[in-house]
Formats: sequence, structure tokens, C-alpha cells
Amino acid sequence: MRTSTSALALVALAANLAAAAPVKKPRWNEWVPEDYLVSLGVRPYYLIQNMTDSPLKQQLEACYNKPVSITGWSIGHRGGGTLQIPEETTQSTQAGARMGAGVLETPFTPANATAPANALCCTADITIAEYGTLCSKMDGFNKSATNVKDYQHGTPSFRTDLYNTCGQVMTLESYIDLVDSLPGYRNYTPELKTPPKAVPMPFNGYTQMQYARDMINTFIRKGIAPERVWAQSFNPADIYLWLNEFPEFGAQAVYLDEDADDASNFTAAVAKMPGLKAAGVNIIAPPYNYLLAIGGPNNDSIVPSAYAMAAKDAGLDIISWSFERSGPLDNVLADDDYYWESIAPIISYDGQAFEALDVLGRQIGIVGMFADWSATVSYYANCFDLKGPIGGSYY
Ligand SMILES: *[C@@H]1O[C@H](CO)[C@@H](O)[C@H](O)[C@H]1NC(C)=O
Ligand SMILES: *[C@@H]1O[C@H](CO)[C@@H](O)[C@H](O)[C@H]1NC(C)=O
Ligand SMILES: *[C@@H]1O[C@H](CO)[C@@H](O)[C@H](O)[C@H]1NC(C)=O
Ligand SMILES: *[C@@H]1O[C@H](CO)[C@@H](O)[C@H](O)[C@H]1NC(C)=O
Ligand SMILES: *[C@@H]1O[C@H](CO)[C@@H](O)[C@H](O)[C@H]1NC(C)=O
Repeated sequence: MRTSTSALALVALAANLAAAAPVKKPRWNEWVPEDYLVSLGVRPYYLIQNMTDSPLKQQLEACYNKPVSITGWSIGHRGGGTLQIPEETTQSTQAGARMGAGVLETPFTPANATAPANALCCTADITIAEYGTLCSKMDGFNKSATNVKDYQHGTPSFRTDLYNTCGQVMTLESYIDLVDSLPGYRNYTPELKTPPKAVPMPFNGYTQMQYARDMINTFIRKGIAPERVWAQSFNPADIYLWLNEFPEFGAQAVYLDEDADDASNFTAAVAKMPGLKAAGVNIIAPPYNYLLAIGGPNNDSIVPSAYAMAAKDAGLDIISWSFERSGPLDNVLADDDYYWESIAPIISYDGQAFEALDVLGRQIGIVGMFADWSATVSYYANCFDLKGPIGGSYY
């Protein structure tokens, strides 16, 4: 999701814009396929067992043996198996799908760009055939590396190299086909990645606008119904282009927001919500640290932030990112962890993950959460019957 990472995993552009295929019917009747067992594994139980006694803990315990199904509230970040499996791969997508994610992400970048001398590699340096021979690796790098080989190591200790065995990279087209082939009703959330500064657009005549069109046209050409696609971008111009030129895709486009990363911009980020809604934006997607604050009678509880309330007041739906990217929560304060920074002073053990998710899910009412380990979010969503955003309801 964040733009700074994982340049190697970027997806190549399938530039051919042949005539659109007829739109295939969404497969509502396959929402819970009987021959496909959604499997959440041990981690949700570990997290619940580490919770302090509370009504929420009791509710989550009461779901220990509840049958689980695919839910659109659970969005697989870079596939959804990213905590343990190389990101943006067939394998990570299959893992997220198995863990119940109803929406699967891939990033999308133009095929044509240049690479600076540092470790930034761009898909445009290579052909699609060359790209297909690459391995995706675990998210992480060696900060002190003095050569390229060493740079590629450095998987954080809370992830693992157990499955770091050349995960298969995907193009936008192969990602569309893979998700379409998965059992159950699965949706897409492709991110139009903002090209790095080293690759100024237009690049060799290829404009940002054409790049934004090409991504949507690839879905159209494959006959994917717009209600299955949650296109994302950090670049507002991409969102407005989709609203203008592809209204059905634009109506459920996801406006990624990182404007308040600089704390002095928080007030402006909050103030812009009504304007976004008036301009046709329906879904805003900040990191969850924007949505959570410290409050309550003793100033020691997780509460909705001013940002969260402003988004709701403006009538925007909220999707947030990304759960399970931070490792053990007892480190988040010392590490100045991005995702927990707004509430880090009151966070010190893993069981608090579900407390935060519950403020997001049931107090604020976000409509979906990205995660690097889909099981955690799928468990929560299944427990409270959260289905995720409803495709087609925005247009
Ligand atoms: C949760 O884990 C922490 C260690 O991070 C431990 O100190 C605490 O006792 C655990 N809480 C429960 C309820 O198991
Ligand atoms: C990149 O663009 C150049 C010219 O614009 C073209 O010759 C080349 O084939 C392109 N490379 C890829 C990988 O598409
Ligand atoms: C990180 O890079 C340094 C310098 O290149 C090297 O000495 C070290 O072994 C590397 N660490 C890992 C985990 O690869
Ligand atoms: C904060 O706002 C200023 C002024 O609009 C902008 O230049 C800067 O990039 C913003 N910072 C972030 C992190 O978005
Ligand atoms: C609540 O606690 C936070 C940090 O723990 C602090 O920044 C804030 O000022 C406190 N607010 C009140 C009203 O005491």
C-alpha cells in the first residue's frame, strides 16, 4: 500500500486495449462454496487468549467454533499472506483467499520507467517476459547493505523466510485471472501505484492519465463487472479521472490518504472531507493510525479520532490499512511504528489488536480492512457478521 516499499514486486502493464469482453455475471450464488474450506489457523486464537477480560473478549471467544466464510470486510494486503509469504504473489493471494479475504490487492505500475543506481528497480527496466522470471521476496531490506545482494536480505524477525522460496510474481492480467478463478465471490482492489520521482510522468510519452485508463480498461477487457473492482490511488487526479471517464468504477474508487503523515497537516486532512464527498468521492482510505485516538474517562482507551468522525459526518465510507504489519505490539511505542503511532502510549500487548479493530469495525463502522495476515481480520469480520462494502451500491 505505501509507496516506498517493494519496488521489485511491481506489476507490469498489459498495454493491449482490445475490445471489451461482455461483462460476466457476478457469482453471488458462490459466496460460500461448499467444496472450499476457509481456514483461519491458530493466530486469531492466540490474539484472543492474550486479551484482557472484557465483553469483547467474551464475544470473540464465543466465535471460536463458528463456521467462517469469505468476507469482503477482509482485504488481502499484497495478497493477504504477506506476514509470512512473499508479497504480491500467486502464493500470497492464494493464502489470503484461503484465510477468507473477499477482496485481494495487487499494485499496478507502468511497464516503462528507468531505474536509478540505488536499489530502486522498476518494471519498465525489463520486459514482461523478464519480469515473469523474477522471484518476489519477503517485505524487508538490509538497511546497512553495501551491495545489492545484501540489500535484499533483512526480513524483519516477526515475518519469516520459511516460505521465501521464489514466490511467483503476477501481471495485472494474471492477477485478474487468478482472483476470478478462486472459489467463492472474490473482488479486486488494484492500486495504481504512483511512479517514483525517478520516473517522471509522462514517461516516453506515456501519461499518468493513460496509465489510469489502462488499468480500468484491462478489467473491462476481461469482462470483470465494475462492482467487483475497488480501484485505489494516492493520486487524487486518478480518482477524478475514473469518476469522469468510468463512473461505475469511479463511484467505488478508494481515495488513499496519507496527507496527515505530517502531524501539522492533520487539521487540513480532516477539513477536506466534505469537499471530497461533494466532488463524488465515496470511499476514503487512511492508515488506521489516523482513525484512532487516546481518550475515554481516564484517558486510557482507544477511541475514534476527529478524522474518523469527520469522514463519517461527511458521508464517506472508510476502508483502512494495514493490519498485521507491525509485529509484536509490545514494540510499537519504542519502534515508533507507523500504524500504531496515534495510540502507541497505551499499546503494549498483542491482545489489544482486536480492541483496536473493534473500535474501527463497530464504533467507527469502517467497511473494510487490509491485512498482511487475512485470518485475523476474517475472524473478526465473521464473528460480527461484517460483509464489507457492497459492490454496485455507490452508483
Ligand atoms: C499478553 O501477552 C503479554 C506479553 O506480551 C503478557 O505479559 C500478558 O500477561 C498477556 N496477557 C494475557 C491476558 O494473556
Ligand atoms: C518502453 O518504451 C520504449 C519506447 O517508448 C519501447 O521501445 C520499449 O519497447 C518499451 N519497453 C517495454 C518493456 O514496454
Ligand atoms: C547487511 O549488509 C551488511 C553489509 O553489506 C552485511 O555485512 C550483513 O551481513 C547484511 N545482513 C544481512 C542480514 O544480510
Ligand atoms: C503537508 O502539507 C503541505 C502543504 O499543503 C504539503 O506541502 C506537504 O507535502 C504535506 N505533507 C504531507 C506529509 O502530506
Ligand atoms: C491523554 O493522553 C495522551 C497521551 O497518553 C496525552 O497526549 C493527552 O494530552 C491526554 N489528554 C488528556 C485530556 O489528558
